[in-house]
Amino acid sequence: MQTVLITGASSGLGAIFAQKFLKDGYHVIVTARNLAQLEALVADYPQEQWTIIQQDLSSQNGATLLYEAIHRRKLTVDILINNAGFGLMGEFHALSLTQQLAMMQVNMTSLVELSYLFLGDMEAQGGGKILNVASVAGYLPGPMMAIYYATKAFVLSFSQALAEEYRGTPIQISVLAPGATKTNFAQVARVEKTKMFAVPMAAEKVVSIAYKQFLRGKHTIIPGKMNQALVVATKFVPRPLLARVAKAVTRD
Ligand SMILES: NC(=O)c1ccc[n+]([C@@H]2O[C@H](COP(=O)([O-])OP(=O)(O)OC[C@H]3O[C@@H](n4cnc5c(N)ncnc54)[C@H](OP(=O)(O)O)[C@@H]3O)[C@@H](O)[C@H]2O)c1
Repeated sequence: MQTVLITGASSGLGAIFAQKFLKDGYHVIVTARNLAQLEALVADYPQEQWTIIQQDLSSQNGATLLYEAIHRRKLTVDILINNAGFGLMGEFHALSLTQQLAMMQVNMTSLVELSYLFLGDMEAQGGGKILNVASVAGYLPGPMMAIYYATKAFVLSFSQALAEEYRGTPIQISVLAPGATKTNFAQVARVEKTKMFAVPMAAEKVVSIAYKQFLRGKHTIIPGKMNQALVVATKFVPRPLLARVAKAVTRD
């Protein structure tokens, strides 16, 4: 039985990823802060198929604590889904610095630490797969969500670079770049009423595309024709103009 670790599994994309892997017979380690939601998620599955680890990934040692908790349980991670993340809408200087630094810790630093730690194990095990969740936001500058867009640009660049480092090896690195998707994300980021979220994709659809393409070995996964068209457009439109468009859609 292969083991998959999914961060941010208490809701949205992470919870749906967890259900998919559970249905397909994997051992699933689910982690997030909300313990009750993690328990509800796995309730219908036999206990030997899952492990719950409650962990806040915004603290400086959060990723290390998670890694140590997994090792203490003598579990071996074959697949890592670095999905935990959140956004915040508002002008950079109007938002709390502490909250924005916490966002950078969850979206980037913890993701890097978990990748580093589990890649060591995967190399020793002779293989493994990592899926990092970025966003189409990673392809353009995002005024009114400047730090969030920048964290996703980091995840995209980091993952695509690692994919090349590991090309031709038994280790696969992939990145998922969804567009606006119906989860708790919009409420947490306070962007539900913006034009950006006028027609969000269904989370089930995003995960079912991502799940298939990731297990088939695809490196960059962009679910939905509209999101793919947006990414193509970012290659031809000057970045100052992209920033203006991004600002216009991050409004009510
Ligand atoms: N929905 C979208 O439109 C969209 C688009 C592109 C990319 N994404 C990305 O998709 C990923 C999943 O988000 P989602 O849309 O599924 O949103 P969501 O429903 O809000 O889920 C976010 C998950 O991240 C976890 N998380 C947040 N802060 C955390 C912390 N400090 N420590 C540990 N876990 C934390 C949450 O768990 P707890 O609160 O229980 O800790 C939750 O399980 C994120 O990386 C997001 O940036 C989303």
